[in-house]
Amino acid sequence: MAEERVNFGSKIGVILATAGSAVGLGNIWRFPYMTGENGGAAFILIYVACVFILGIPCMIGEFLIGRHGASNTARAYTRLAKGSNWRWIGYLEVLTGFLITGYYAVVSGWCLNYIYASIMGELKGDPAYITSYFTAFSNDPIRPVFWTIVIFGITHFIIVHGVRNGIEKASKLMMPTLFILLLVIVVAACLLPGATKGIDFLFKPDFSKVTRDVFLGALGQCFYSLSIGMGCLCTYASYFSRQTNIKTSAIQIGLIDLLVAILAGLMIFPAAFSVGISPDSGPSLIFITLPNVFNQAFLSIPVIGWGVALLFYALLSLAALTSLISLHEVNTVFFYEELHITRKAGAWIVTIACCLIGAICSISIGQKSSMSLFGMDLFDLFDFVTGQLMLPICGLLMCLFVGWVIPKQIVKDELSNWGTLRFSFYKLFLFTMRFVCPLCILAIMLHQFHLI
Ligand code: PFF
Repeated sequence: MAEERVNFGSKIGVILATAGSAVGLGNIWRFPYMTGENGGAAFILIYVACVFILGIPCMIGEFLIGRHGASNTARAYTRLAKGSNWRWIGYLEVLTGFLITGYYAVVSGWCLNYIYASIMGELKGDPAYITSYFTAFSNDPIRPVFWTIVIFGITHFIIVHGVRNGIEKASKLMMPTLFILLLVIVVAACLLPGATKGIDFLFKPDFSKVTRDVFLGALGQCFYSLSIGMGCLCTYASYFSRQTNIKTSAIQIGLIDLLVAILAGLMIFPAAFSVGISPDSGPSLIFITLPNVFNQAFLSIPVIGWGVALLFYALLSLAALTSLISLHEVNTVFFYEELHITRKAGAWIVTIACCLIGAICSISIGQKSSMSLFGMDLFDLFDFVTGQLMLPICGLLMCLFVGWVIPKQIVKDELSNWGTLRFSFYKLFLFTMRFVCPLCILAIMLHQFHLI
């Protein structure tokens, strides 16, 4: 397609929209519980190393493909692969994004419900009540589906307004709001009595806790958090203008993502330690542990007590929404370019199909016995197949593609504007894409299947 491609209108638009894709439930939900389960500060140090050594090079790799492909992810790979079978990676990334969109929206919908519940005062009660509230809600056949549809409605509205008027504008509004909310809650949490224990947990490393699991956990978290392997970065990079420096952008976005994750830790651990609740409760951290923490830590403080839970779930919903928009966009642009339909029609296909996937996933949670495959309900199955199988496979193939297949000149040109550092950076980048990243991703996968 030789048509002129739309670009993001400004540098800050590029950074905020792409950081919006990266910053999501992974930062505010997954990062804190991974840190809690893996011993705190030592995990964070390893995570930071993963972001710099592996995450940022992989982002640069995806950006390269996106900018040079200048179209949807599937076509971008096809253009660069010149008819070889490598082009199927693009289709696999789009499919992964498609499947993830449905169930990511379910959890995003839960966050919206929790905003509503905090306004209505439904989250006040003892720990047993909070647990039963979550179980009753997530097993309900109607309410979670309703909230999934609501979040898709908002996403759809933004997507149909296009790249500049929809995605970029919304990101410019939502990302600063997200930062402000985050900072307000961090300050409130760090002022609680006993909060310093949580701060110590985050920043004083205990290397005796470091095992192979901690390394692999940090690696997996890094890929998930930076949205690598699902076509999001590639699609957004296709809207970068020629002036956008992809190296600098990848570093800035990686740093923003890291900062949000650490701030999320600074919000959750001081509050949890201050009321003596353990922060290693796994995935239920944000929907069961935290309402308890908020109840015990803040409720005695007038005004703030009521508001913190509300602000927290608003923050979570915003983060989820900006990621959902990028996942939706991957598929919308795929359908509209490949089927030669309008953007609006492409968006409708994605919204309707993903609402159905989301609804089925959501209902399957409450109907475990009748709607399960391989012993998992469909929600867990989607999570497993996409997160643990398709994502790492896409990431691995993407690295090999950039390292071995695409013309070296493209890589050289993109990495050319760092003066004298140019040559060594290019070589280092290629080495990382060819060997370091593929081996690390392979290790994560083998570990997930208990093979190492
Ligand atoms: N990076 C997002 C998060 O941290 O929640 C999740 C995600 C969004 C992963 C989009 C992949 C993706 F393509």
